[in-house]
Amino acid sequence: MSEIRDQIMQRILSGKIVQAPTACYKANLDGTVSDDLVDFYAARAANPVSDIMIVEHSYVAPRGKASKGQISLASGDVVEGLSRIAETIKEGGKVALIQLAHAGGAAKRKYTRMVPWAPSSMVLGEAAAGLGDPEPTQAMSKADIAQTVQQFADAAVRAVQAGFDGVEIHAAHAYLLNEFFSPLTNKRTDEYGGSVENRVRIHCEVARAVRTAVGPDVPVFMRFGGCDYLEGGNTIEDAVEAAKIIARETDIDVLDVSGGMCYYKRPGHKEAGYFADMTTAIKQAVNLPVVVTGGVREMADADALLAAGAGDLVGVGRALFKNAMWPEAPAE
Ligand SMILES: Cc1cc2nc3c(=O)[nH]c(=O)nc-3n(C[C@H](O)[C@H](O)[C@H](O)COP(=O)(O)O)c2cc1C
Repeated sequence: MSEIRDQIMQRILSGKIVQAPTACYKANLDGTVSDDLVDFYAARAANPVSDIMIVEHSYVAPRGKASKGQISLASGDVVEGLSRIAETIKEGGKVALIQLAHAGGAAKRKYTRMVPWAPSSMVLGEAAAGLGDPEPTQAMSKADIAQTVQQFADAAVRAVQAGFDGVEIHAAHAYLLNEFFSPLTNKRTDEYGGSVENRVRIHCEVARAVRTAVGPDVPVFMRFGGCDYLEGGNTIEDAVEAAKIIARETDIDVLDVSGGMCYYKRPGHKEAGYFADMTTAIKQAVNLPVVVTGGVREMADADALLAAGAGDLVGVGRALFKNAMWPEAPAE
């Protein structure tokens, strides 16, 4: 690992709380940065306890756009605005990352004006109950996959140009990469379907392309949607096998573990660390730092998860989304 990256990683790992990506959808209609968006991150940059902030999912290509108000990383004109966000987070003394996302079959035609791409033609809402609009997707060709891999790499370069310390590849929550991993949505018979190794081939390709594009000095996280917690979906054992392959085949720095096709929630669970059974198993199997997120409301929850070996860092989403100064009481 390069000395520069090693230093950033030491800062990251000496911390405890990660501000998990939580989309506030305050970007302009064209995906460029608005003043409201900068204000959202400036408020959270002042948070007293977090050491790392991961800016919300930002689309790497117009076809991968999920929502109105989503940030774009799909063209060079976004860099200047994004540099305001990176700067404000770093002024708050935090390590600043931004999430690279392609919504795949969860992209909305009403925003993209394109047929959503996915590993297989399907209707996401049928493949994983309750998810996405009932829009049919188009199975990606190998050329489509190669183009998309390159788009992740190009977006990562823009993030670094904007001044971010690192990037996070979004491979969770029923977005494109997660759709490749989950047997609920991947019915391919080529080298991108079938075995776990094949179903995370695109994860490895994206991670390697991003690493090549950003160079050795930039930390690269992956938000890995592991277990689906759904009938017929990926199990914790599948998630562990996949994590081992990703750790072996790529040069990523952190596995930020979250849900798969169940999204960021786990059916029937609300306790602090509701993905801890999966994160603990992954942490024991791979030699990479793991972030455990889900259900943390108090600092004591985070301490307990770390003490139990469920992760190396703890992600906090909704508590910080609602109260920028968490765990302090919200301002009157
Ligand atoms: C409003 C909102 C927006 C979110 N946006 C993202 C996102 O952009 N990328 C992502 O990977 N997860 C996103 N998540 C999931 C969170 O990062 C986190 O995993 C989830 O909220 C569970 O953690 P918590 O219980 O601390 O809230 C979002 C969650 C919420 C509530």
